[in-house]
Amino acid sequence: MTQNGELFKKLVSHCKEYGFVFPSSEIYDGLSAVYDYGQYGVELKENIKRYWWKSMVQFHENIVGIDTAILMHSKVWQASGHVDAFNDPLIDNKDSKVRYKADQLIEDYIDKLYEKAEKEIEKAKKRFGDNFDEQLFRTTNEKVKKYLDEAAKISNRLTILLDNNDLAGLKALIEELKIVCPVSGTCNWTEVRQFNLMFKTQLGSTADDAMTIYLRPETAQGIYVNFLNILKTSRQKVPFGIAQIGKAFRNEIVARQFIFRMREFEQMEMQYFVRPGTEREWFEYWKEQRMQWHLSLGIPKEKYRWYEHKKLAHYANAAVDIEFEFPFGFKEIEGIHSRTDYDLKRHQEFSGKKMLYFDHDLQESYIPYVVETSAGLDRTLLAVLTNAYTEEILPDNSLRTVLKIPNFLAPIKVAILPLVKKDGMNEYALNIFNDIKKYYLCQYDEKDSIGRRYRRQDAIGTPYCITIDGQTMQDNTVTIRDRDSMLQDRVQVDNIVKYLNDKLNGL
Ligand code: GAP
Repeated sequence: MTQNGELFKKLVSHCKEYGFVFPSSEIYDGLSAVYDYGQYGVELKENIKRYWWKSMVQFHENIVGIDTAILMHSKVWQASGHVDAFNDPLIDNKDSKVRYKADQLIEDYIDKLYEKAEKEIEKAKKRFGDNFDEQLFRTTNEKVKKYLDEAAKISNRLTILLDNNDLAGLKALIEELKIVCPVSGTCNWTEVRQFNLMFKTQLGSTADDAMTIYLRPETAQGIYVNFLNILKTSRQKVPFGIAQIGKAFRNEIVARQFIFRMREFEQMEMQYFVRPGTEREWFEYWKEQRMQWHLSLGIPKEKYRWYEHKKLAHYANAAVDIEFEFPFGFKEIEGIHSRTDYDLKRHQEFSGKKMLYFDHDLQESYIPYVVETSAGLDRTLLAVLTNAYTEEILPDNSLRTVLKIPNFLAPIKVAILPLVKKDGMNEYALNIFNDIKKYYLCQYDEKDSIGRRYRRQDAIGTPYCITIDGQTMQDNTVTIRDRDSMLQDRVQVDNIVKYLNDKLNGL
């Protein structure tokens, strides 16, 4: 397994062991690609949501929020094009009867080539020690070059096949690469077919009046169908935006990579309504804004890159993804799309309601164009955790696992720990806890040695630990330990809140 593969495995088990993410319905062996957030996961998720909401709604006086229903009229999804075109190419293995996403099989093949190259690099690193020049080795070692070139060539071919919707070509490539089903080990494949990703359900109590509806696959349509309501009630003028955070559902064929690809997930979306002809300007504006937002999560710049869509969806005149380097490679974390007037126009057509905006400056009516920013909440949380997960060897040779989550996102801000459970230290600590909990989400912990308690807090990313010790009982001072440096300050009890406010900015 590569270093990154190893890291990913550790991260997934850390998330479970420390109450961030659990497999759904685990006592019944789980439900594939569905996850539950535990006590720390939910706090981290809420903090990310709050931060996004603040950045988008509070900091932009021309953006308002909305919370629309998951269930919507089925015509919404006909108008949006999802009923006809929200598909993935799937292929079945005739022997195992297991279904796969055709493009994913090829991507896995490409990943294996990258893994082989990384293995060669790791081996050489060990062999050459300090003298190893990785960059030179990557570009000159024949084996590594062969793996990397082959991976790039297949990747290009895959992009072209997907762009051209060439299903027969996908199957031919799978056969040419001799990709076998991991379950049966055979290459006995069906044709590639398109599979609609929306979950269907029935509305209505009797068979006669039952209507097929869908769980929404994106939150955006809830915004479009409320465009007129918001326009009437908010007094906003173009350009203005509507933001929403909420669940979306997709019957994904490939059910792995943890919370990266789930069947039930959350999106943070904003639709920005602009005057036609100005959409490219706003598209550039939102590209920049959204990249800055991701960087403000304390994640280094080199962990992000742009992916420009070469083939655009029928409704878009520009589209880019922000990709993050997950342990399994660079993958999409947010999409920014210039969606023209496609959605509002289609809803006008299907509903018969005019989706017009009267522009007082121009003295004319038009259907606004839309620039959309669409971020995955779960993917953002995974990016934060990937970046935060750190293993350190301490001077005494012990291993410390610490989540270096930025303070403003940390699930628990402060832990209050009496050094021992006697001499009045625990009562003193409880008093401090009862005071601090009015300001910050904090935890009181008196079980086990102080060292073990510090490790527990490190593992969930708590930025500060307050310890009540023998000296506290004499001079009313406590130590406050910083998670990352492990250094301690001695602080007067009366100054704890001010100290924390300065460090945590009241978050
Ligand atoms: N309204 C536009 C839209 O839905 P998308 O690129 O399909 O665009 C937006 O999705 C974001 O939602 C993605 O960038 C990703 O972060 C997140 N996302 C999409 N499918 C997901 C899944 N199955 N599991 C987790 N997150 C997902």
